[in-house]
Amino acid sequence: MTQLSSRRQVPRWRDLEPFLRPRPLERDVVRRRLARCLSVDDVERLARRRVPGAVWDYVAGGSDSEIAMRRNRDAFDRVELRPTAFSQVAEPELATTLLGRPAAAPIALAPTGYTRLGHHTGERAVAAAAERAGLPYTLSTYATTSITDVARAAPGGRNWFQVYLMKDRAVTGAHLDEARAQGFEALVLTIDTTVTGMKRKDKLNGFAIPPQLTARTMAGMARHPRWVADILTTEPLSFATFPAGSEYARWGMSNQLREQQIRPADVTWLRERWDGPVVVKGVQSVGDAVAAVDAGADAIVLSNHGGRQLDRAPVPLELLPQVVEAVSGRTEVWLDSGVRSGGDVVAAVALGATGVMVGRAYLYGLMVGGERGVTHVLDLLAEEMRRAMCMLGTPTIADLTPEHARLRDR
Ligand code: LAC
Repeated sequence: MTQLSSRRQVPRWRDLEPFLRPRPLERDVVRRRLARCLSVDDVERLARRRVPGAVWDYVAGGSDSEIAMRRNRDAFDRVELRPTAFSQVAEPELATTLLGRPAAAPIALAPTGYTRLGHHTGERAVAAAAERAGLPYTLSTYATTSITDVARAAPGGRNWFQVYLMKDRAVTGAHLDEARAQGFEALVLTIDTTVTGMKRKDKLNGFAIPPQLTARTMAGMARHPRWVADILTTEPLSFATFPAGSEYARWGMSNQLREQQIRPADVTWLRERWDGPVVVKGVQSVGDAVAAVDAGADAIVLSNHGGRQLDRAPVPLELLPQVVEAVSGRTEVWLDSGVRSGGDVVAAVALGATGVMVGRAYLYGLMVGGERGVTHVLDLLAEEMRRAMCMLGTPTIADLTPEHARLRDR
């Protein structure tokens, strides 16, 4: 043996210096925060500290005992990704076609209510980030920014409008007219919200627009003066897709105003009134998938509303293969509920989804850093997809097939 291992020397500054050199201080606090977020989980942890508890509970929570919400995540955790290692690729391509048009990745931003509560820049920031990323953005009927203002914020974006059908079809008709006039591309009809799910924390928090200020919500807001100042110094919160001052703008989420018995004929009704694609979201059975397609849907989204509606509802990822088989080739089959990493997107596509929608994940980014936070989350998803596809050996989205993913028992 040589003496190599026992020879020692006094450390020299020259050798130590590279290890001790402090990283330059990032003065931009948002950039500093985002730089520490290497996953959506990291973004979620920071987001929780940025908003009052009642806002957090609304976004992060699920209905009743949150069983559906937990099962959504559990299903993605059970995915095993299966490489075909001898066909590894260095630079996979995420670009794909969604509703017949090019998209940068098989991802659309899901409709979310009350988005300005997460960050005062709200839907404008999200739509702008989606446009920059080359992904479609879906504006909710229960948005806090109008259809026209979103079109202004993302004039070149693929903007979709989510329809909560109103009993008074003239109100829905006005949404369609404005969306058409503002160049929106597609409608997304949500069919799973007969009544809004019981989110117990929201009930206790008095969560509503305008906020019903309980002692609890007041205390939560007092801990977030910056958030309160941003909200109070920007345009007042309202259900902004409805005419200002109308009962809809005040009580938009009321079950009484919304159609509670949506039928396939309503899909056909929309089809006849809209030139572009009509997507049906909230499909939770093979029968409803077939009925939606028969009624004219151009795409369906398997969804249990992120576990916010019927608790114990089917898990979209588990339902996916049967639905794909039943409507194969006739329509695009999308999925949402529980997607929060690029690996999740890859798994869903491998199991047959044309694309996925993400909701909470981008809202967390919005809470941490407004538009830049949303962009950060979309970048994370894309990077994770790219890495997974490199290692899987799938050069393009079309190469992701069921041989690349399976659901383990545990
Ligand atoms: C929700 C409704 C707005 O999930 O879709 O809160």
